[in-house]
Amino acid sequence: MQVVAIAAVASNGVIGDGRDIPWHLPEDFARFKRVTTGHVLLMGRATFEAIGRPLPGRTTIVITRQTDWQPPRVEDEATRVYVATSVEQSLQMADEIDREKICWVAGGGEIYRQTWHRLTGLDLTEVHQTPEGTVHLPPVDPGQWREITREHNDGFDFVRHAPITHTDRLVLEPVSQRDDEAWHGLHSEWEMHRTGLRSGYTDVHPEVDLQTNVDSWIQHGLGCWLVREANDSRWIGTGGLRQQLDGPLPYWNLFFQLDKSVQGRGYAVELSRAGFSRLAELDPTAEVRAYLMPGDRAGTQVVERLGLYRMADHVDKWGNPHMVYSRSVPWLLNGVG
Ligand SMILES: NC(=O)c1ccc[n+]([C@@H]2O[C@H](COP(=O)([O-])OP(=O)(O)OC[C@H]3O[C@@H](n4cnc5c(N)ncnc54)[C@H](OP(=O)(O)O)[C@@H]3O)[C@@H](O)[C@H]2O)c1
Repeated sequence: MQVVAIAAVASNGVIGDGRDIPWHLPEDFARFKRVTTGHVLLMGRATFEAIGRPLPGRTTIVITRQTDWQPPRVEDEATRVYVATSVEQSLQMADEIDREKICWVAGGGEIYRQTWHRLTGLDLTEVHQTPEGTVHLPPVDPGQWREITREHNDGFDFVRHAPITHTDRLVLEPVSQRDDEAWHGLHSEWEMHRTGLRSGYTDVHPEVDLQTNVDSWIQHGLGCWLVREANDSRWIGTGGLRQQLDGPLPYWNLFFQLDKSVQGRGYAVELSRAGFSRLAELDPTAEVRAYLMPGDRAGTQVVERLGLYRMADHVDKWGNPHMVYSRSVPWLLNGVG
């Protein structure tokens, strides 16, 4: 399940002052309503009472230590309020309500702090003000979060962050809207021919592919990473998992493309395994597939080492033949399922 914090935060980290939010931004409220409607909201009792009513069209889980706290009665089918007595219980409830929905963590300060390590995304409205206030958002550590989109507005920006993954030897950074240059460099025709280790790439134009991956992070909580070695700032490839909805059931497409200079070090396996662990948090029973070109010996070795098995051959809509490898996430991580 995706667990995404949504907050409006001032330049000094302030998000509130006791009961109130120290600014009034109708565009931010409108966007909050648009993105959260139909999904699940998680909030502390103080924030729920500051809002003063259940938000329509959403399921709200209110977190309180008071075992006798009663939510208000709601008649509307699409609007529900549940109570959880711990953060852990609230996350379990959200998962049971519907794992496909986004669990939006809507504050306040205490709840952001306690869910921070569980978040799969940050959706922030950066307010260009420095008001007085007693409630703060935890700092957004640039070593842990990468900004993937930014929409400028008058006096505030809408900013989305996705988590950076660190493996033993690699840093995996979610691809961002601003990565055109790096993306083109890594996906140019020349590079395609030069690169030995690749799988699952499509013939889609690079710009479209970049935006598709940014959207995948936002909509599904996982997409393509830019890959670098832990002690080096140079990009050495791309890879990741992206949800595909082109069949009767959704599956996650594994792909990787690494520079020839780093081949033979086991990086494709390392980044793929990091992807499976991330995917398990979003969808513990997900199916992973890899589409390999016939003759892609290096790619075949990688997917077989990961434990995927060849289930079929396939010709895509451009007429390219592929070998299709598949396996479930529980099997890939634990050898069961
Ligand atoms: N700018 C924004 O985007 C934004 C968003 C939301 C809120 N805010 C602001 O943030 C402020 C409220 O934040 P806050 O930190 O004071 O309060 P809060 O996080 O909204 O709620 C705190 C309450 O949650 C419950 N709680 C916290 N941890 C718990 C746990 N582990 N188990 C069970 N219950 C737990 C407790 O309720 P009980 O006391 O009932 O036990 C606690 O008093 C307000 O100023 C609000 O306007 C701003």
